[in-house]
Amino acid sequence: MQYSFNTAAGIITMASFGSIGFASLLMGTTDGDGGSNAISYWVPKGQENDVWYGSKHLEPMKKSDFVGESSKSSTKMSGAQGVWGGMPVSVVYVPHEENKNSAASSGKPRFQFMDGVDQTGAIIGYGGEIEEESKWSVLKIHDNIVIIMSRCTHLCCIPGWQLVANDFTADNWIPGGLDSGGNKLFCICHSSRFDPTVIEKNTNINKDTGASFEYFGIKRTGGPAPVGIPLVPFVVNNDIMEAIDFEAEGVVEILDWYTYCN
Ligand code: FES
Repeated sequence: MQYSFNTAAGIITMASFGSIGFASLLMGTTDGDGGSNAISYWVPKGQENDVWYGSKHLEPMKKSDFVGESSKSSTKMSGAQGVWGGMPVSVVYVPHEENKNSAASSGKPRFQFMDGVDQTGAIIGYGGEIEEESKWSVLKIHDNIVIIMSRCTHLCCIPGWQLVANDFTADNWIPGGLDSGGNKLFCICHSSRFDPTVIEKNTNINKDTGASFEYFGIKRTGGPAPVGIPLVPFVVNNDIMEAIDFEAEGVVEILDWYTYCN
């Protein structure tokens, strides 16, 4: 495995992929039949008795698990840490379909599309383009779930879902992608926060080539991280969550999104 994750001690480490790189690793895990693309639970060391998926380490993630867990939450959201082909991901369930027609001010979570920025803060696009333009169709929000690459855009630590208790991770929600309100992904390294309910367009830099690329991800709401973190396109196959086959779907260029860390 490529990383260890111990939030109890406040320590997160990750081995470098060196010249292999994240994008190559992703390509290496796609076999076209979906079988090896399953996203599995990853239980952070020391949290086996604290997280709801503590007994499911490395088991394939099931959508029904998240739906069941969400019923215990006041916001009816749920989330977990996962791993796909050695890559850390965060998976968040949001009762979007149930809440999308209620007033946002009711505090019932739903996905939101917002304008996104580059590293200088300049607006470069709108998150809703993933539903408006056919070339992004693999990223359409579906199944009330988002899967997010769990590498912080600050210094590449691993943000987590409710692995520490503070105002940013509390089980409440407010609209607008603000830093206040809870249910943020929280990076313990230097306290960056990300709202998994806000989809926006950002830019980042390929760490190997220095080239800039645009991507869709969740909004950075606070802390030193400059931009949001990218989505991972997926399917639900007989209740099992699987990343897509990038080559079969013709979206290999998306692999560039995961090159801001190495
Ligand atoms: S690496 Fe996440 S806040 Fe610094």
